[in-house]
Parts: sequence; C-alpha cells; structure tokens
Amino acid sequence: MTTIISPSLLSCDFMNIETELKHFDSAKDIWFHLDIMDGHFVPNMTFGNPIIKMISKISNHPLDAHFMVTNPDFYIETLKDVPIHNFTFHYEATSTPLELIKEAKMHYPSVGISIKPGTPFDKLSEEVLSEIDLLLVMSVEPGFGGQSFIEGTWEKLEQIRVKKLANKFDFMVQVDGGVGSANASQLIEAGCNNLVAGSFVFKGGPDQYLNNIELLRG
Ligand code: DX5
Ligand code: ZN
Repeated sequence: MTTIISPSLLSCDFMNIETELKHFDSAKDIWFHLDIMDGHFVPNMTFGNPIIKMISKISNHPLDAHFMVTNPDFYIETLKDVPIHNFTFHYEATSTPLELIKEAKMHYPSVGISIKPGTPFDKLSEEVLSEIDLLLVMSVEPGFGGQSFIEGTWEKLEQIRVKKLANKFDFMVQVDGGVGSANASQLIEAGCNNLVAGSFVFKGGPDQYLNNIELLRG
C-alpha cells in the first residue's frame, strides 16, 4: 500500500499560501495536513474556520485536519459543509470519543483520533478502534513544529501493529512530529502508512518540496 505523505502547512509560508500549495500540484498520494491549535488544548494558536475554508477552496489535494482543540464538537458541526477529507481530533479532548467519532463520520469521509505521547494506546477501546479510519500517533508533544521525534513512540507503534493484526482493524496509522528521512523507512516498516512532516518537507525551498516527499517514501 502506498504511503500517504501529509505535508504540515504549519511550516509553509503563510503569506504566500496559494503559491506554496501550487508547488505540490503534480504530487501523488499526498494530503495537506492542517494543524488547528486553539491556545487552550495546546499553548500555541494557529488558525480556525475562516482560514480552513479558504484553504479548502485552493487545495488540489485532500485536506487532513488535525484539531488540537478542547472542543472538537464545535468544529465537527461548523465545518460540515467544508470539503475536509480526514477529520482528526484528540482522545484527550473528550470524555465521549465514540459518540464524537460517530457524529464526525456523518460529515467527513475519514475520521481519526489522535493520542499524545503520554497517552497509552490501550486507553482506546476496541469499539473506538473499530470505528476510526485513522489513528494519529503524536511523536512529539503537540503544539509546535520542528521538535525531535520521541523514541518512546516505537514501542507504541509496535503495540498498535500487534493489536491491528490480531483484530483485523483496518485504520490507517499516521505519525506526526519529528518525521524525516532519518526515520521514515523505519516508520513505514513499523506499520505507519501516513507520515506527517512539516519542517522536513518545506526545507530547502520550493524546488525541493517534491523531492523531500520522495525521500520520505524511501
Ligand atoms: C505539532 C503538529 C505537527 C507539526 C509537525 O503539534 O501536529 O503536525 O507541524 O512538524 P514537524 O514535522 O516539523 O515536526
Ligand atoms: Zn499535526
């Protein structure tokens, strides 16, 4: 199965976002990863609905929205007419993950749940695992791009691989934070089929973006 690469737009030049996105027009199997931070769930703040809507109008690739917010229900409801391909919210932000997943699935083709580095994988119930389309494993503390990959992620990925196999779960495994060519092939071997990368994809200027993506596919 092809590995999807999700360039995190957190690392792009926001003043020229339309031009930035155009550099990816000929790329295959990529999603644009949007990091929505509310200044509460994480200390940092990025952008909200108006900007998401504008990006959806100029994007030629599926949108992968990662909500680092305390109130995912608000976004599920208010963005339902926006063509977001994958809608991911954090397990830590809700006491009713299953209900939220079911609600989100009514509006978005793919729904993901994310766990922070300190959240054990076994917190996710089998009902949740059977409903989701994607599991986002944070390999850095959410909030900022450009951090180093947390090594404890490997053990979590192994637990996920074993559980997926044993239960025949078919959710995609996405890893986010500190991903680059130094760990990409090992991540794919460990069962990740979607790699989010911000600083790695956007380094070296626009001429390098597509090449950087290929480097991640190994
Ligand atoms: C962090 C975000 C990531 C981040 C990744 O909270 O979820 O998507 O942009 O950035 P890099 O690839 O630079 O670690
Ligand atoms: Zn992210």
